[in-house]
Amino acid sequence: MINEKALEEIRDTLEKHILQLNFEGEPKELYEPISYLMQLGGKRIRPLLALLSYGLFKDGYQKILTPAAAIEVFHNFTLMHDDIMDNAPIRRGRQTVHEKWDDNTAILSGDVMLVKAYEMLLEVETDKLHPALKLFSKTAAEVCEGQQLDMNFESLDQVSEEEYLNMIRLKTAVLLGFSLQLGAVLAGASESDALHLYDFGVNIGIGFQLKDDLLDVFADKEKFGKQVGGDILANKKTYLLIKAKELAAGKEKAALEQWLAAKEFDPAEKVKAVTAIYEQLEIREKTMNLMADFFEKGFNQLANIKVQKPEALQILWSLTRKLATREN
Ligand code: IPE
Ligand code: IPE
Ligand code: MG
Ligand code: MG
Ligand code: MG
Repeated sequence: MINEKALEEIRDTLEKHILQLNFEGEPKELYEPISYLMQLGGKRIRPLLALLSYGLFKDGYQKILTPAAAIEVFHNFTLMHDDIMDNAPIRRGRQTVHEKWDDNTAILSGDVMLVKAYEMLLEVETDKLHPALKLFSKTAAEVCEGQQLDMNFESLDQVSEEEYLNMIRLKTAVLLGFSLQLGAVLAGASESDALHLYDFGVNIGIGFQLKDDLLDVFADKEKFGKQVGGDILANKKTYLLIKAKELAAGKEKAALEQWLAAKEFDPAEKVKAVTAIYEQLEIREKTMNLMADFFEKGFNQLANIKVQKPEALQILWSLTRKLATREN
């Protein structure tokens, strides 16, 4: 309970900090979408991980609120562009930026957000500036690599489980890893502790994306805040589809192949049919098992860290455990 309270306090402080960030400017078409998306909320997982990681080694996480928020700005930039690429209508329960404005606006606003993220990251102590920017730049390029693989895979017939795991490591997991590593670096942790935290983040990040892929099919629409079935409509090579292709036989296999090849179809019908095949093949359970494996692998990394503040480790635990059972 004490953990919960401490976590809520940090979450509140972070949220206030994010909401007072000023993204105003002219022309307003460029800047308004930034405040729009940033103020729609979201779980704020990445900056929270950075703050909690800092807290493992040092008190006074308030000192790094702006660099932590920089990660959230970067994340929101990737979402703005991702929603164009994925043709997504809804984000956090509201219209996506490219739907509310248009594609060009979402491209350019997103670009400014990337620049703003760099600008906010400058607010680390001078001796931390070089490592912070170097790690961030590497991570940001990897996210783009993962996103390109995700797009490439849409039109490929065969994608292996290994290729899929590498793709989600890049598009999603490395940013969680970086968030934790940054918190540790800014707190002056040893290189080995910072690297263990990075590995922890990458493993739970893979689990996090597996859960995201699962929710895309099985979520409660109201709680999810995104379109349910979007991945099925885009033939995304998620773990669910890769496993289903591997396990389907006979009539099911034929039906799945037919839906994947269909050029014209009723979207709701395709989502329903593919979801039914997933149910038949118990794909939900299989995905949950793999997700649990990655979370466990991540948690094992934590044992290697020389934590200075054991209470802080409990808070990090508390947050991370909830990621596996989240509904949005
Ligand atoms: C969505 O990230 C994109 C993924 C990498 C799965 P989140 O699930 O963290 O989205 P918000 O920020 O909470 O809305
Ligand atoms: C997106 O993965 C990862 C990044 C934004 C880099 P998804 O495309 O699955 O994320 P959602 O489901 O749209 O949030
Ligand atoms: Mg995507
Ligand atoms: Mg998407
Ligand atoms: Mg998704």
